[in-house]
Amino acid sequence: MDKNFYITTPIYYPSAKPHMGHAYSSIIADFFSRFKKIDGYNVYFLTGTDEHGLKIQRSAEKQNKDPKSFCDEISKTFEDLTKTLNLSNTDFIRTTENRHKISVQKLWNILEENNQIYLSKYSGWYSVSDEAFYNADEVEEKDGSKVAKLSGSIVEWVEEESYFFKLSEWEKPLLEFYEKNKNFILPESRRNEVISFVRSGLKDLSVSRKTFTWGIKVPSNEKHVVYVWLDALTNYLSSLKYPDENNNLFKKFWPADLHIIGKDILRFHAIYWPAFLLAAKIKPPHRVYGHGWILSGDEKMSKSKGNILDPLEIIKLYGLDPLRYYLLKEVSFGNDGNISEEKLENCINSDLANNFGNLCQRVLSFAEKNCSSVVPEHKFNKDDLIILNSINDIEKIRTFIDNQDINQYMNFIVDRLFA
Ligand code: ME8
Ligand code: MG
Repeated sequence: MDKNFYITTPIYYPSAKPHMGHAYSSIIADFFSRFKKIDGYNVYFLTGTDEHGLKIQRSAEKQNKDPKSFCDEISKTFEDLTKTLNLSNTDFIRTTENRHKISVQKLWNILEENNQIYLSKYSGWYSVSDEAFYNADEVEEKDGSKVAKLSGSIVEWVEEESYFFKLSEWEKPLLEFYEKNKNFILPESRRNEVISFVRSGLKDLSVSRKTFTWGIKVPSNEKHVVYVWLDALTNYLSSLKYPDENNNLFKKFWPADLHIIGKDILRFHAIYWPAFLLAAKIKPPHRVYGHGWILSGDEKMSKSKGNILDPLEIIKLYGLDPLRYYLLKEVSFGNDGNISEEKLENCINSDLANNFGNLCQRVLSFAEKNCSSVVPEHKFNKDDLIILNSINDIEKIRTFIDNQDINQYMNFIVDRLFA
């Protein structure tokens, strides 16, 4: 039986140190990873940093650093965070590693061999902050600047020679793929967004840049670097040692079971990624879950807005497990949610100290008083079994987990504290 499970977080841009939003995705992925491990699966859990592209190059330039040493420094803070968060990750990948470059160039060559890439000229809008191309109808004027409607980031006009991926050819196959794999994109509202975007028509996608150098070179034309998203997405393969398809990791773990991402990068994971893979004749992943945002006030917490909460400080003040509990229980999974010290304290006091703490207190003092602090030999009677079976409903819990229904899962567990 196939008891392997491959789960990933996004690989984060090391343009600034991590904040609570990054910690959130990583904690969510870790939650699933740990459940699957306890449930007897071989789990491969991948996280890392996405280090190429103009966004990183410019951030490095601002600090007068060369991009590689800039990335070394900040990537380290993301790697350190995996330890502070006590993540159960198997690997931490950096896209500046040679193992990754091999995979990206191989994938590029296959796409070229399969006649999926051609050279032309790009002219249009580009957001460096999102590392994304936008159509004219996706851009609006705001405070005298052109911004992307979707993200609010500033866009600039780009005109340069570029390789294109024949994304337009994949419109129908993608729609069929979504139809056959009803749960490929979750939650359902996001799935509907993606389907209507694809239905409205896909244009070929620019997949190389020529006006800067910080990236992986296009194998057949060294004047171009591979578009950072084609580069980044491939991390999910390169960690498994692709293109060595006969190696055990790839055989065991591909296709990925679950990509945990934020809704900001859904288009890349739910449209471009399966299209690249289908075009290269590689199986697409089983599922992409686009969760909501951790807000700061009512805005997305983000490096570029500077409205961030530092997970390290919160952990120092309140401890790791209370933070993990808060994010799982108080942020309704799939939707946007908030965190503040006040909310965290309320949650700790009511749920952890009162409910859970009380349960422990009652059970432990009962055991101490009546059973010399040892769990006694005991034959369970009918009433005992009713309680025990309601807690042990493992099939129910498995279903919640396999549907990424963290909300129901948490309710189920928390209710048991009052059993
Ligand atoms: O997009 N709330 O990197 P990134 C919840 N390198 N999650 C948040 C968040 C917030 N306020 N802010 C960030 C990139 N995240 C690319 C990804 S993957 C092949 C390449 C989390 O540093 C969330 O998972 O901008 C979001 O999708 C991701 O960090 C974006 O991180
Ligand atoms: Mg971002």
